[in-house]
Amino acid sequence: MDQSILAMADLATPMAIRVAATLGLGDHAGTAAELASGTGTSPAALTCLLDHLVTAGVFAFDAESGSYRPTDLGAQLRTEDAKVLLDINRAGGRAELAFTDLLGTITTGEPAYERRYGRGFWADIDAEPRLRRSFDAQMGWRFRVQAPQIAERFEWGRFPRIVDVGGGDGLLLAEILRAHPAVRGEVLDLAPSATAAAARFAAAGFGDRASAVAGSFFDPLPPGADAYVLSDILHDWDDDHARRILASCREAAAPAGTVVVIEPLRQGAGTAIDLFMLMCFGGRERTVAELEALAAECGLAPRGTAAVSDGRTALEFAVA
Ligand SMILES: C[S@@+](CC[C@H](N)C(=O)[O-])C[C@H]1O[C@@H](n2cnc3c(N)ncnc32)[C@H](O)[C@@H]1O
Repeated sequence: MDQSILAMADLATPMAIRVAATLGLGDHAGTAAELASGTGTSPAALTCLLDHLVTAGVFAFDAESGSYRPTDLGAQLRTEDAKVLLDINRAGGRAELAFTDLLGTITTGEPAYERRYGRGFWADIDAEPRLRRSFDAQMGWRFRVQAPQIAERFEWGRFPRIVDVGGGDGLLLAEILRAHPAVRGEVLDLAPSATAAAARFAAAGFGDRASAVAGSFFDPLPPGADAYVLSDILHDWDDDHARRILASCREAAAPAGTVVVIEPLRQGAGTAIDLFMLMCFGGRERTVAELEALAAECGLAPRGTAAVSDGRTALEFAVA
């Protein structure tokens, strides 16, 4: 059958699924009244939602008992993936809602997130500890396989002191320190993440091998480290900001340090993530050539690339 443009553009079903995920409906079965009581929602409105989820094949309705239960498809709402990505009260799900302002982004080139929520993504989540925690948790969830891979597949042992610039709550640096006992390092990130990183390092018992610094990568970075790591940072920013971040790293790394950029590279079919990065941050995925061109403008010379995890490439740069 021909694809229907109207079905593709339907917002009712995706929003109904996201609201179900946010309410935790995948964890329960019962009548609409019972489910409404358990979730603090309006029974009449919840019935309308559940009936549409039945139409969509996400819930099944038993007329005899008047009870709704998740189908096999609906059971996916119980997975960590669904909870992290679809809950509209968490940072990721909330950011996706800004797609309703995509026209503004396409018209002006500016992030829809700011238009919708009145401040940029980072300022918004930093003002709300609950959002910040959910973002850090999402970053950990998305890197649960990759962080150990990146730690093991790259020769970090060459760098006695590493600064993980925008290193979040320290997941990647902790994995690197575990895999390379002679390395020590610090995370530089905005205050809430730096606090979380310090707590992670203390809990892991790294002692003085690991520390966390609250600050911005648009300000001067702690100088003199052997390597400055930018993991999934540049794709959050447009070219002007990306250049400023690379220039900060270059300045701190000079004269002999290394800058290691770890990024998901732009691929032909990755158009949805590209559109999300533009809509949310004004950022985008880039090719190796694009990243090397940006780095060259900041006085950084390429020293090689390596596939370091499923979906991530490390680009190494020397101070030119
Ligand atoms: C996509 S996350 C990547 C986190 C981590 N590098 C990783 O790969 O898991 C981007 C990080 O950049 C941080 N960030 C955003 N703006 C920043 C700024 N001006 N200075 C320092 N860190 C910043 C965020 O707090 C967040 O931890």
